[in-house]
Amino acid sequence: MEQLIIKGGNPLRGEVNISGAKNAALAILPAVILSEGISTIENLPYIEDIKHLVEILENLGAKCNFKDKHTLVIDSTNIEKYRAVYGSVKKIRASYYLLGALLGRFKNAEVAMPGGCNFGQRPVDQHIKGFKALGAVADLKNGMNKLKADKLIGTNIYLDVISVGATINIMLAATKAQGVTIIENAAKEPHVVDTANFLNMMGANIKGAGTDVIRIIGVEKLHGVRYTIIPDQIEAGTYMIAAAITKGSVTVKNIIPKHMDPLTAKLIEMNCIVEEGDDYIKVTAPEKLYATNIKTMVYPGFPTDLQPQITTIVACSHGTGIITENVWENRFQYVNELKRLGFNITVEGRVAVTKGPVNLMGAEVFAHDLRAGAALVLAGLASVGTTTISNAKQIYRGYENIEGKLRVLGADIEKV
Ligand code: EPU
Repeated sequence: MEQLIIKGGNPLRGEVNISGAKNAALAILPAVILSEGISTIENLPYIEDIKHLVEILENLGAKCNFKDKHTLVIDSTNIEKYRAVYGSVKKIRASYYLLGALLGRFKNAEVAMPGGCNFGQRPVDQHIKGFKALGAVADLKNGMNKLKADKLIGTNIYLDVISVGATINIMLAATKAQGVTIIENAAKEPHVVDTANFLNMMGANIKGAGTDVIRIIGVEKLHGVRYTIIPDQIEAGTYMIAAAITKGSVTVKNIIPKHMDPLTAKLIEMNCIVEEGDDYIKVTAPEKLYATNIKTMVYPGFPTDLQPQITTIVACSHGTGIITENVWENRFQYVNELKRLGFNITVEGRVAVTKGPVNLMGAEVFAHDLRAGAALVLAGLASVGTTTISNAKQIYRGYENIEGKLRVLGADIEKV
């Protein structure tokens, strides 16, 4: 089992380059299925989830060729299969995007129930509602989601909950439906916009991505393109917090500062100095950090995927902080692990209350999921002594070369 071993206490200093956005890449690669031709995808993050997805695409018949770690050439011309089985699909949540993409291309899709991080119920009812509205018959049997349609016809779809996955999945299928599809109450996350931009470059006709109404006029054919994925908002945020929690000063480069607004505002509230350029943000820690309150929300609210990381820094700060998780029903599992290092956090349902400052001492901990693992890395960096994080493979699902990037900033961290 992979472990990360951190000897804490070093302030991080210097510059770090942010990789491409995991959650955009996980939608854009399946979107290639809708096209016939050769696409080149640049700025792909070199992380486990992407490697699994590429394996799935190859099994479906796509020809995938990494030109370098971050550039993938995919020929989707000869994809013939529309069935993706449990083996590789179970490893990633985003395998649900295969449903929308395969349905769009073949009017048929058979995809095993997805895997991914476990933080409570993760229903796909809104995805299925959308596919049915477009004319598909849906069936869940023996762990396989099956979709079939004679033809897909554009229609109005109102999402009962704002869902990133359902918004993108419906957009994928509707791209090749006949007529106009309107998605109301759509998610506005940067990766929704990036996926729409990618589809449009391939020849789709999508307007309104980034607002809560998306209008898609179906097209018959999509072609291959060259496309560069946006930078990862969550990886960037994790390094911004790392700078502050270690009492350091770090320039986080190759990012879209606008995407960081909810975190930037909170770090400033906590007393950090934050300087913004066109494509970078520099975070410098103050003498004293003050606790604050956080409520996670859909974009442009505070992202749930930075909740474990912000909870960790709020909990080391002076005063009481209240963190409310509004997106996932059970995303505080990592708190028990943080407590092993000396954190004072109590959780009641979707609310965590932190009291600081605390004296943190390294300990052995377990990464239950990806962002929980990132929080433990931050906690280890801020603690005295050694922290050993087991099940570190969770962290590598979403953070490219985390130990290498942190070492350049002065951290004492090792992967074993
Ligand atoms: N929901 C439903 N029905 C659905 C879909 C969602 O009730 O059909 C509910 C969920 O239970 C949840 C809320 O809607 O309470 C939001 O879920 P959403 O569909 O937006 O989440 P997702 O698409 O499954 C993506 C990211 C997650 C991130 C969420 C929220 C990917 C591959 N995953 O998940 O990222 O937490 O959006 O922003 O894009 C991560 O990267 O660590 C991660 C978990």
